[in-house]
Amino acid sequence: MVDKDPRWIEEIRSGLLGWYDEAGRKLPWRADRDSYRILVSEFMLVQTTVAAVIPYFERFLRRFPDARALAEADTADVLKAWEGLGYYRRARQLQAAARQIVEGHGGTIPDDPEAVRSLPGVGPYIAGAVLSFAFDRPEPIVEANSQRVLARLIAMGDDPKSTPARRRIWEAAARLVPPVRAGDFNQAMMDLGAMICTPREPSCLVCPLSRFCSARRQGLQDAIPRATPRRAPELVGEACAVVRDRGRLLVVRRGPGRLWTDFWEFPTIHVSGPDPAGRSLGSAVYLTEGVRRLAGVDAAIGPVSATIRFGVTRYRVTMEASLGEAKPGSPGPTPGHGLIEARWIEPETLTSLTFSSASRRLIAKLGLVSEASG
Ligand code: ADE
Repeated sequence: MVDKDPRWIEEIRSGLLGWYDEAGRKLPWRADRDSYRILVSEFMLVQTTVAAVIPYFERFLRRFPDARALAEADTADVLKAWEGLGYYRRARQLQAAARQIVEGHGGTIPDDPEAVRSLPGVGPYIAGAVLSFAFDRPEPIVEANSQRVLARLIAMGDDPKSTPARRRIWEAAARLVPPVRAGDFNQAMMDLGAMICTPREPSCLVCPLSRFCSARRQGLQDAIPRATPRRAPELVGEACAVVRDRGRLLVVRRGPGRLWTDFWEFPTIHVSGPDPAGRSLGSAVYLTEGVRRLAGVDAAIGPVSATIRFGVTRYRVTMEASLGEAKPGSPGPTPGHGLIEARWIEPETLTSLTFSSASRRLIAKLGLVSEASG
Protein backbone atom coordinates (compact mmCIF):
# COMPACT_ATOMS: atom_id res chain seq x y z
CA MET A 1 0.00 0.00 0.00
CA VAL A 2 1.23 3.50 -0.82
CA ASP A 3 1.75 5.68 2.27
CA LYS A 4 -0.61 8.60 2.54
CA ASP A 5 1.12 11.97 2.27
CA PRO A 6 1.65 13.72 5.61
CA ARG A 7 -1.12 15.95 6.78
CA TRP A 8 0.82 19.19 6.25
CA ILE A 9 1.30 18.36 2.59
CA GLU A 10 -2.43 17.78 2.21
CA GLU A 11 -3.07 21.09 3.92
CA ILE A 12 -0.70 22.96 1.61
CA ARG A 13 -2.48 21.41 -1.37
CA SER A 14 -5.98 22.18 -0.18
CA GLY A 15 -5.04 25.68 1.02
CA LEU A 16 -3.45 26.54 -2.30
CA LEU A 17 -6.22 25.02 -4.44
CA GLY A 18 -8.90 26.78 -2.37
CA TRP A 19 -7.13 30.08 -2.92
CA TYR A 20 -6.71 29.38 -6.66
CA ASP A 21 -10.41 28.63 -7.10
CA GLU A 22 -11.23 32.06 -5.71
CA ALA A 23 -8.34 34.21 -6.87
CA GLY A 24 -6.49 32.43 -9.71
CA ARG A 25 -5.99 34.35 -12.95
CA LYS A 26 -8.35 33.67 -15.83
CA LEU A 27 -5.88 33.37 -18.69
CA PRO A 28 -6.81 32.51 -22.29
CA TRP A 29 -4.80 29.27 -22.35
CA ARG A 30 -6.63 28.10 -19.26
CA ALA A 31 -10.07 28.28 -20.85
CA ASP A 32 -9.92 24.56 -21.63
CA ARG A 33 -7.37 21.77 -21.45
CA ASP A 34 -6.44 21.83 -25.09
CA SER A 35 -2.88 20.50 -25.17
CA TYR A 36 -1.94 22.40 -28.35
CA ARG A 37 -3.05 25.74 -26.89
CA ILE A 38 -1.11 24.95 -23.72
CA LEU A 39 1.99 24.08 -25.71
CA VAL A 40 1.78 27.33 -27.70
CA SER A 41 1.27 29.40 -24.54
CA GLU A 42 4.24 27.84 -22.78
CA PHE A 43 6.56 28.43 -25.73
CA MET A 44 5.44 32.05 -25.77
CA LEU A 45 5.79 32.50 -22.02
CA VAL A 46 9.47 31.55 -21.89
CA GLN A 47 11.24 34.74 -20.75
CA THR A 48 8.14 36.80 -21.55
CA THR A 49 5.40 38.24 -19.36
CA VAL A 50 1.79 37.09 -19.33
CA ALA A 51 0.58 40.57 -20.31
CA ALA A 52 2.89 40.66 -23.35
CA VAL A 53 1.89 37.16 -24.45
CA ILE A 54 -1.93 37.43 -24.35
CA PRO A 55 -2.48 39.38 -27.62
CA TYR A 56 0.10 37.28 -29.47
CA PHE A 57 -1.45 34.07 -28.20
CA GLU A 58 -4.92 34.97 -29.40
CA ARG A 59 -3.71 36.12 -32.83
CA PHE A 60 -1.45 33.08 -33.25
CA LEU A 61 -4.27 30.67 -32.42
CA ARG A 62 -6.58 32.33 -34.96
CA ARG A 63 -3.85 31.99 -37.56
CA PHE A 64 -2.67 28.48 -36.63
CA PRO A 65 -5.62 26.89 -34.80
CA ASP A 66 -4.12 23.42 -34.47
CA ALA A 67 -0.86 21.50 -34.78
CA ARG A 68 -1.56 20.60 -38.39
CA ALA A 69 -2.08 24.22 -39.44
CA LEU A 70 1.17 25.19 -37.76
CA ALA A 71 3.08 22.23 -39.17
CA GLU A 72 1.99 23.06 -42.71
CA ALA A 73 2.59 26.82 -42.47
CA ASP A 74 5.46 28.68 -44.09
CA THR A 75 8.14 29.35 -41.49
CA ALA A 76 8.22 32.99 -42.65
CA ASP A 77 4.52 33.31 -41.69
CA VAL A 78 5.17 31.75 -38.30
CA LEU A 79 8.00 34.20 -37.65
CA LYS A 80 5.77 37.05 -38.79
CA ALA A 81 3.13 36.01 -36.24
CA TRP A 82 5.86 35.86 -33.60
CA GLU A 83 7.35 39.21 -34.62
CA GLY A 84 7.95 41.36 -31.54
CA LEU A 85 7.84 38.51 -29.00
CA GLY A 86 11.59 37.91 -29.28
CA TYR A 87 13.48 34.66 -28.77
CA TYR A 88 12.60 33.57 -32.29
CA ARG A 89 14.25 30.21 -31.93
CA ARG A 90 11.19 29.26 -29.89
CA ALA A 91 8.91 29.93 -32.87
CA ARG A 92 10.99 27.60 -35.03
CA GLN A 93 11.08 24.95 -32.31
CA LEU A 94 7.33 25.21 -31.82
CA GLN A 95 6.78 24.62 -35.51
CA ALA A 96 9.19 21.67 -35.41
CA ALA A 97 7.22 20.31 -32.44
CA ALA A 98 3.96 20.72 -34.40
CA ARG A 99 5.50 18.78 -37.30
CA GLN A 100 6.54 15.97 -34.97
CA ILE A 101 3.02 15.93 -33.47
CA VAL A 102 1.51 15.58 -36.95
CA GLU A 103 4.02 13.06 -38.28
CA GLY A 104 4.36 10.93 -35.16
CA HIS A 105 0.98 11.30 -33.44
CA GLY A 106 -1.64 12.13 -36.06
CA GLY A 107 -1.86 15.80 -35.11
CA THR A 108 -2.70 15.48 -31.40
CA ILE A 109 -0.24 15.67 -28.52
CA PRO A 110 -0.42 12.28 -26.83
CA ASP A 111 -0.97 11.80 -23.09
CA ASP A 112 2.46 10.22 -22.88
CA PRO A 113 5.38 11.69 -20.93
CA GLU A 114 8.02 10.18 -23.21
CA ALA A 115 6.37 11.53 -26.35
CA VAL A 116 5.89 14.99 -24.84
CA ARG A 117 9.47 15.16 -23.57
CA SER A 118 10.85 14.24 -26.97
CA LEU A 119 9.24 17.22 -28.74
CA PRO A 120 11.75 19.82 -30.02
CA GLY A 121 12.26 22.70 -27.59
CA VAL A 122 10.44 20.92 -24.76
CA GLY A 123 12.48 20.78 -21.55
CA PRO A 124 11.40 19.66 -18.08
CA TYR A 125 9.34 22.79 -17.45
CA ILE A 126 7.24 22.73 -20.63
CA ALA A 127 6.86 18.95 -20.42
CA GLY A 128 5.55 19.20 -16.85
CA ALA A 129 3.25 22.07 -17.82
CA VAL A 130 1.67 20.20 -20.76
CA LEU A 131 1.39 16.91 -18.87
CA SER A 132 -0.15 18.46 -15.78
CA PHE A 133 -2.33 21.21 -17.32
CA ALA A 134 -3.67 19.18 -20.24
CA PHE A 135 -3.71 15.65 -18.83
CA ASP A 136 -3.68 16.28 -15.09
CA ARG A 137 -0.64 14.10 -14.60
CA PRO A 138 1.11 14.72 -11.25
CA GLU A 139 4.26 16.11 -12.88
CA PRO A 140 6.09 18.89 -11.05
CA ILE A 141 7.00 22.17 -12.68
CA VAL A 142 9.27 24.99 -11.61
CA GLU A 143 9.31 28.40 -13.30
CA ALA A 144 10.38 31.77 -11.94
CA ASN A 145 7.27 32.39 -9.82
CA SER A 146 6.84 28.92 -8.37
CA GLN A 147 10.59 28.74 -7.77
CA ARG A 148 10.32 31.75 -5.46
CA VAL A 149 7.32 30.29 -3.60
CA LEU A 150 9.09 26.97 -3.10
CA ALA A 151 12.41 28.56 -2.07
CA ARG A 152 10.58 30.52 0.63
CA LEU A 153 8.46 27.57 1.70
CA ILE A 154 11.57 25.50 2.44
CA ALA A 155 13.73 28.55 3.40
CA MET A 156 16.34 27.71 0.83
CA GLY A 157 18.98 30.41 1.15
CA ASP A 158 21.38 29.16 -1.56
CA ASP A 159 21.73 30.81 -4.94
CA PRO A 160 18.65 29.37 -6.70
CA LYS A 161 20.62 29.07 -9.94
CA SER A 162 23.11 26.61 -8.40
CA THR A 163 22.68 22.95 -9.30
CA PRO A 164 22.03 21.69 -5.73
CA ALA A 165 19.49 24.47 -5.17
CA ARG A 166 17.68 23.67 -8.40
CA ARG A 167 17.57 20.01 -7.41
CA ARG A 168 16.09 20.82 -4.01
CA ILE A 169 13.44 23.05 -5.53
CA TRP A 170 12.40 20.43 -8.09
CA GLU A 171 12.29 17.82 -5.32
CA ALA A 172 10.04 20.06 -3.24
CA ALA A 173 7.78 20.63 -6.27
CA ALA A 174 7.60 16.87 -6.92
CA ARG A 175 6.74 16.18 -3.29
CA LEU A 176 3.93 18.71 -3.20
CA VAL A 177 2.18 18.14 -6.55
CA PRO A 178 -1.06 16.29 -5.78
CA PRO A 179 -2.30 13.12 -7.49
CA VAL A 180 -5.49 14.90 -8.55
CA ARG A 181 -5.82 18.52 -9.75
CA ALA A 182 -2.08 18.51 -10.44
CA GLY A 183 -2.48 21.02 -13.27
CA ASP A 184 -4.51 23.43 -11.14
CA PHE A 185 -2.02 23.05 -8.31
CA ASN A 186 0.94 23.90 -10.57
CA GLN A 187 -0.84 26.93 -12.00
CA ALA A 188 -1.83 27.98 -8.49
CA MET A 189 1.84 27.95 -7.47
CA MET A 190 2.66 30.27 -10.37
CA ASP A 191 -0.22 32.58 -9.58
CA LEU A 192 0.70 32.71 -5.92
CA GLY A 193 4.21 33.75 -6.93
CA ALA A 194 2.93 36.34 -9.40
CA MET A 195 0.26 37.84 -7.13
CA ILE A 196 1.10 37.22 -3.45
CA CYS A 197 4.58 35.77 -3.00
CA THR A 198 6.09 38.58 -5.07
CA PRO A 199 9.84 39.24 -5.34
CA ARG A 200 9.62 42.32 -3.11
CA GLU A 201 7.28 42.89 -0.20
CA PRO A 202 5.37 39.62 -0.43
CA SER A 203 1.81 39.80 0.95
CA CYS A 204 2.34 37.18 3.66
CA LEU A 205 -0.70 38.35 5.61
CA VAL A 206 -3.07 37.11 2.94
CA CYS A 207 -1.01 34.14 1.76
CA PRO A 208 -2.76 30.77 2.04
CA LEU A 209 0.62 29.11 2.69
CA SER A 210 2.05 31.49 5.27
CA ARG A 211 1.63 29.11 8.17
CA PHE A 212 3.71 26.50 6.35
CA CYS A 213 6.38 28.92 5.19
CA SER A 214 9.81 28.41 6.78
CA ALA A 215 11.18 31.71 5.42
CA ARG A 216 8.30 33.62 6.96
CA ARG A 217 8.74 31.80 10.28
CA GLN A 218 12.35 32.98 10.36
CA GLY A 219 11.57 36.47 9.02
CA LEU A 220 13.61 35.71 5.88
CA GLN A 221 10.95 36.23 3.21
CA ASP A 222 12.70 39.34 1.88
CA ALA A 223 16.13 37.68 1.78
CA ILE A 224 15.01 34.48 -0.01
CA PRO A 225 15.53 33.65 -2.79
CA ARG A 226 18.98 35.14 -2.80
CA ALA A 227 19.55 37.47 -5.74
CA THR A 228 22.02 36.25 -8.33
CA PRO A 229 24.42 39.07 -9.23
CA ARG A 230 23.75 40.28 -12.74
CA ARG A 231 26.54 40.57 -15.22
CA ALA A 232 26.97 44.10 -16.52
CA PRO A 233 25.67 44.34 -20.10
CA GLU A 234 28.24 44.58 -22.87
CA LEU A 235 27.99 47.74 -24.93
CA VAL A 236 27.74 47.41 -28.68
CA GLY A 237 27.65 50.03 -31.43
CA GLU A 238 25.99 49.42 -34.78
CA ALA A 239 25.17 51.62 -37.74
CA CYS A 240 22.63 51.07 -40.46
CA ALA A 241 21.85 52.81 -43.72
CA VAL A 242 18.34 53.45 -44.99
CA VAL A 243 19.16 53.76 -48.67
CA ARG A 244 16.55 54.94 -51.18
CA ASP A 245 16.29 54.69 -54.89
CA ARG A 246 13.38 56.58 -56.44
CA GLY A 247 11.26 56.08 -53.35
CA ARG A 248 12.11 52.43 -52.84
CA LEU A 249 14.10 51.23 -49.83
CA LEU A 250 17.04 48.86 -49.68
CA VAL A 251 16.52 45.91 -47.33
CA VAL A 252 18.53 42.75 -46.73
CA ARG A 253 17.71 39.41 -45.12
CA ARG A 254 19.97 37.56 -42.73
CA GLY A 255 21.08 34.04 -43.45
CA PRO A 256 21.69 31.27 -40.93
CA GLY A 257 23.78 32.63 -38.10
CA ARG A 258 23.39 33.23 -34.46
CA LEU A 259 20.67 35.84 -34.28
CA TRP A 260 17.64 36.79 -36.34
CA THR A 261 18.07 34.21 -39.08
CA ASP A 262 15.64 35.04 -41.93
CA PHE A 263 14.87 38.49 -40.53
CA TRP A 264 14.92 41.57 -42.71
CA GLU A 265 16.85 44.70 -41.81
CA PHE A 266 18.52 47.73 -43.31
CA PRO A 267 22.15 47.05 -44.19
CA THR A 268 23.86 47.17 -40.81
CA ILE A 269 27.49 47.24 -39.84
CA HIS A 270 29.04 46.49 -36.55
CA VAL A 271 30.97 49.46 -35.20
CA SER A 272 32.21 48.76 -31.69
CA GLY A 273 32.14 46.24 -28.86
CA PRO A 274 31.40 42.52 -29.10
CA ASP A 275 29.12 41.68 -32.01
CA PRO A 276 25.95 39.97 -30.72
CA ALA A 277 25.04 38.62 -34.13
CA GLY A 278 28.41 37.00 -34.66
CA ARG A 279 28.20 38.34 -38.19
CA SER A 280 30.67 41.09 -38.13
CA LEU A 281 31.95 43.28 -40.89
CA GLY A 282 34.95 43.59 -38.61
CA SER A 283 35.87 47.16 -38.00
CA ALA A 284 34.20 48.45 -41.13
CA VAL A 285 33.49 51.88 -39.81
CA TYR A 286 32.39 53.34 -43.08
CA LEU A 287 28.76 52.72 -43.80
CA THR A 288 29.20 53.43 -47.50
CA GLU A 289 31.66 50.56 -47.76
CA GLY A 290 29.38 48.42 -45.59
CA VAL A 291 26.39 48.97 -47.88
CA ARG A 292 28.49 48.05 -50.90
CA ARG A 293 29.69 44.85 -49.25
CA LEU A 294 26.35 43.86 -47.74
CA ALA A 295 24.03 44.74 -50.59
CA GLY A 296 26.23 45.48 -53.61
CA VAL A 297 24.83 49.01 -53.88
CA ASP A 298 26.81 52.24 -54.27
CA ALA A 299 25.19 54.87 -52.13
CA ALA A 300 25.80 58.37 -50.84
CA ILE A 301 25.15 58.22 -47.11
CA GLY A 302 24.12 61.29 -45.09
CA PRO A 303 24.57 62.07 -41.40
CA VAL A 304 22.90 60.12 -38.59
CA SER A 305 19.13 60.71 -38.62
CA ALA A 306 17.97 58.57 -35.71
CA THR A 307 19.43 56.63 -32.81
CA ILE A 308 17.78 53.78 -30.94
CA ARG A 309 18.94 51.66 -28.04
CA PHE A 310 17.85 48.12 -27.32
CA GLY A 311 18.89 45.07 -25.37
CA VAL A 312 19.52 41.67 -26.89
CA THR A 313 20.68 38.79 -24.73
CA ARG A 314 23.47 40.31 -22.64
CA TYR A 315 24.24 43.15 -25.02
CA ARG A 316 23.11 46.75 -24.91
CA VAL A 317 23.10 48.00 -28.48
CA THR A 318 23.16 51.59 -29.69
CA MET A 319 22.12 51.71 -33.33
CA GLU A 320 22.57 54.82 -35.42
CA ALA A 321 20.63 55.11 -38.66
CA SER A 322 21.59 57.29 -41.59
CA LEU A 323 19.60 58.03 -44.71
CA GLY A 324 21.23 57.55 -48.08
CA GLU A 325 20.55 57.65 -51.82
CA ALA A 326 21.67 55.05 -54.32
CA LYS A 327 24.07 56.51 -56.86
CA PRO A 328 22.63 56.65 -60.39
CA GLY A 329 23.66 53.53 -62.27
CA SER A 330 24.66 51.66 -59.10
CA PRO A 331 24.75 47.88 -59.49
CA GLY A 332 22.88 45.54 -57.14
CA PRO A 333 21.22 44.79 -54.97
CA THR A 334 23.20 41.62 -54.35
CA PRO A 335 23.48 40.02 -50.91
CA GLY A 336 26.90 39.57 -49.33
CA HIS A 337 28.40 38.72 -45.95
CA GLY A 338 26.08 36.05 -44.55
CA LEU A 339 22.97 37.66 -46.05
CA ILE A 340 20.63 35.65 -48.25
CA GLU A 341 18.63 38.39 -49.96
CA ALA A 342 18.94 42.05 -50.82
CA ARG A 343 16.06 43.92 -52.46
CA TRP A 344 14.48 47.22 -53.22
CA ILE A 345 10.99 47.41 -51.77
CA GLU A 346 8.19 49.95 -51.73
CA PRO A 347 7.78 51.50 -48.26
CA GLU A 348 4.18 50.17 -48.09
CA THR A 349 5.46 46.60 -48.17
CA LEU A 350 7.80 47.10 -45.21
CA THR A 351 5.15 45.87 -42.80
CA SER A 352 4.66 42.58 -44.65
CA LEU A 353 8.29 41.55 -44.04
CA THR A 354 9.54 40.31 -40.69
CA PHE A 355 11.81 42.77 -38.91
CA SER A 356 13.14 42.66 -35.36
CA SER A 357 11.33 44.95 -32.93
CA ALA A 358 14.37 47.23 -32.93
CA SER A 359 14.12 47.65 -36.71
CA ARG A 360 10.41 48.30 -36.42
CA ARG A 361 11.08 51.03 -33.90
CA LEU A 362 13.52 52.55 -36.30
CA ILE A 363 11.02 52.38 -39.15
CA ALA A 364 8.51 54.24 -36.97
CA LYS A 365 11.06 56.75 -35.75
CA LEU A 366 12.14 57.62 -39.27
CA GLY A 367 8.51 57.84 -40.41
CA LEU A 368 9.13 55.37 -43.25
CA VAL A 369 5.65 53.85 -43.13
CA SER A 370 2.57 56.05 -43.29
CA GLU A 371 -0.15 55.59 -40.67
CA ALA A 372 -2.41 54.03 -43.27
CA SER A 373 -0.06 51.25 -44.27
CA GLY A 374 1.47 50.72 -40.83
N1 ADE B 1 4.60 31.48 -16.99
C1 ADE B 1 4.96 30.37 -17.64
N2 ADE B 1 3.90 29.58 -17.84
C2 ADE B 1 2.82 30.22 -17.33
C3 ADE B 1 1.44 29.95 -17.25
N3 ADE B 1 0.94 28.84 -17.77
N4 ADE B 1 0.63 30.83 -16.64
C4 ADE B 1 1.16 31.96 -16.15
N5 ADE B 1 2.44 32.29 -16.19
C5 ADE B 1 3.28 31.43 -16.79
